[in-house]
Amino acid sequence: MKEFKIFKKEDILDNMDLLMDFYAKRYDSNYNIALKNSSHVCCCIEDGKIVGACRLITDYCSHTSIVDLVVDREKRRNGIGRRLMEDAIKCILELNTYYNNISTDPKNPWLKDFYESLGFKSRENYFTLTYPKE
Ligand SMILES: CC(C)(COP(=O)(O)OP(=O)(O)OC[C@H]1O[C@@H](n2cnc3c(N)ncnc32)[C@H](O)[C@@H]1OP(=O)(O)O)[C@@H](O)C(=O)NCCC(=O)NCCS
Repeated sequence: MKEFKIFKKEDILDNMDLLMDFYAKRYDSNYNIALKNSSHVCCCIEDGKIVGACRLITDYCSHTSIVDLVVDREKRRNGIGRRLMEDAIKCILELNTYYNNISTDPKNPWLKDFYESLGFKSRENYFTLTYPKE
């Protein structure tokens, strides 16, 4: 059975093992710190395991970012990613922040179309620059 859940801060702490099972194999064993500092994690759970998720980071006033959207490879193209993004947008509306963003990957141009179909807009002449960790 597949279910979609939105974990808020206290639920994130209560479900840390479940979330780390999904995210730590993709990112970092310290990822629990990133999870603890997220306002929401939207996830899809199938047979007791997370098969797709994204998380939100916010300052609760001005800026919110949706980050680390990922669905298990074998579960892709079934609408899970879209539903996770719809849930993330619900969280953004609840947070009521002004600047809400997601980064896209130019190597996969369909991603931009996907985000635009959900209401995200590209800003003309606007580029995000990053200052990488050494
Ligand atoms: C991005 C990702 C989360 C999408 O998850 P998903 O469950 O496959 O997404 P969905 O099935 O809901 O598809 C969403 C839309 O994207 C389109 N899409 C998904 N994969 C696609 C692909 N490989 N090529 C073209 N279009 C694609 C779908 O057609 C769908 O459009 P529609 O709803 O108008 O029909 C998944 O591909 C993934 O985990 N990718 C690796 C991590 C990543 O790149 N994350 C994004 C970081 S910017």
